[in-house]
Amino acid sequence: MRPRRVKNSQEILDNSKYVISNPIDYKGKYKEVFGNNNLIRLEIGMGKGDFIVGMAQKYPNINFIGVEVQEAVIVRAIKKLDKLDLPNVKVMMINADKLNEVFDHEIDTIHLNFSDPWPKTRHAKRRLTNESFLKIYDDLFIGDPHIIQKTDNILLFAYSIEELVKHGYKFNKVSLDLANEDIDNVQTEYERKFMLKGERINYLDAVKCSRK
Ligand SMILES: C[S@@+](CC[C@H](N)C(=O)[O-])C[C@H]1O[C@@H](n2cnc3c(N)ncnc32)[C@H](O)[C@@H]1O
Repeated sequence: MRPRRVKNSQEILDNSKYVISNPIDYKGKYKEVFGNNNLIRLEIGMGKGDFIVGMAQKYPNINFIGVEVQEAVIVRAIKKLDKLDLPNVKVMMINADKLNEVFDHEIDTIHLNFSDPWPKTRHAKRRLTNESFLKIYDDLFIGDPHIIQKTDNILLFAYSIEELVKHGYKFNKVSLDLANEDIDNVQTEYERKFMLKGERINYLDAVKCSRK
């Protein structure tokens, strides 16, 4: 279901200090955007921004960039951000399939939180862990590719593991029940809803070691 349009969306997008409205212009220069050498993490499909806000508050020495394709969703995140002062956060409205036009080996970790599962086989290419996306992500990382995924959806989770293995990733951690692990965690909007319904959250932390 499409979220309802927010009034004055364009004005909110144009006037927020958090929004990078021309992200391609900063390719290779994201350290300059933040004005420091701190690591940069990306959340793809950031939704309404609870995760990125929570992470940025918890880790002021890490920079966070939220990526979201839907205007009505990112605007809600920006409204939240505009009430706060977080120098380590930026957001951009872009489709993940364009991210290699935006970053050139600048990202430390990608977070994929409760990504749309696209259950029909004919839509598998839209899943954010499809091999075509993993290839795009390869060009974003400054060091070894590092992806952390959380999802309620066991089919997407199994699919992601398969795709990551095919693409050369190894796993630091795989869990079928995040709540019962000793893992540092900041909840997302979707995660909170699933937890309230008593659902288990799947979690993986995968790295692709480029050194032989
Ligand atoms: C199910 S929501 C999860 C939101 C949030 N991460 C959470 O856990 O609460 C998935 C979000 O990913 C966004 N999304 C889906 N495909 C995307 C893509 N190709 N590029 C950027 N964002 C995408 C959707 O618009 C949606 O807001």
